[in-house]
Amino acid sequence: MSNEIVALSIQGLTAGYGGPPIIEQVSLTARRGAITAIVGPNGAGKSTLLKAVAGLIRPAAGKVFVEGQDVTGLPAERLVRRGIAYIPQVENVFPDLTVRENLDMGGYVRKSGVRERIEQLFLLFPDLKVAAHRRASTLSGGQRTMLALARGLMVDPAVLILDEPSGGLSPKFQGLIWERIEQIRATNVAVLIVEQNTRETLRHAQWAYVLVLGRNRLEGAGHDLLEDDEVVNLYVGRLT
Ligand SMILES: Nc1ncnc2c1ncn2[C@@H]1O[C@H](COP(=O)(O)OP(=O)(O)OP(=O)(O)O)[C@@H](O)[C@H]1O
Ligand SMILES: [Mg+2]
Repeated sequence: MSNEIVALSIQGLTAGYGGPPIIEQVSLTARRGAITAIVGPNGAGKSTLLKAVAGLIRPAAGKVFVEGQDVTGLPAERLVRRGIAYIPQVENVFPDLTVRENLDMGGYVRKSGVRERIEQLFLLFPDLKVAAHRRASTLSGGQRTMLALARGLMVDPAVLILDEPSGGLSPKFQGLIWERIEQIRATNVAVLIVEQNTRETLRHAQWAYVLVLGRNRLEGAGHDLLEDDEVVNLYVGRLT
């Protein structure tokens, strides 16, 4: 089954910003065709973990494998060529460029097929097609997030890494973004995501990791973690 294929494997990763490590000995796996979530309290190191995987900070220890290949310590621009697309929460589009220009830029590592890929992505994101000639700065927050997702997908990544893609958006847009993420997952991409709304995130995640104080705390199927007392008490809250 295609969703058995491990796209990303992180083993014992330790990283930080020059001082004491922020994440320590973290391990996780993300499979193609699955949504893998990282949840945990503020400051747990979720964004730091994503940055270490995407090559924005260099791990002090541990290994990162993409499709079985050791990519540990490679800088971000080389990781893109190895199949890692990372969408940061902010500054994820070029505001002065048009939608189409942003997508062209997103495809810079492609040898060919930029135009065809843009047309494919316009099918997935019809709003972007309508807005193709508008500057990104004139888009709504939700549309801008869609553009950031599409830009990441220009390289046909094995792994799409998303740090709070619906941060700051209205509930309506949050729902729409989950719809798109589910569609992206269905194209056999491994989606690795951090999101604020833990309950909603666990509903969508085939597998989720709870990160606390920079370390692996728990892992399991999203639906199972929604039933876990510790997870519910600390990170989800009960529906009353
Ligand atoms: N650029 C940086 N330089 C130094 N320390 C940083 C930097 N970015 C984050 N930190 C520290 O790393 C720790 C973990 O932060 P991180 O942003 O990874 O947490 P997070 O789990 O993503 O939190 P949140 O849920 O609030 O987004 C925090 O103590 C934070 O202050
Ligand atoms: Mg964060």
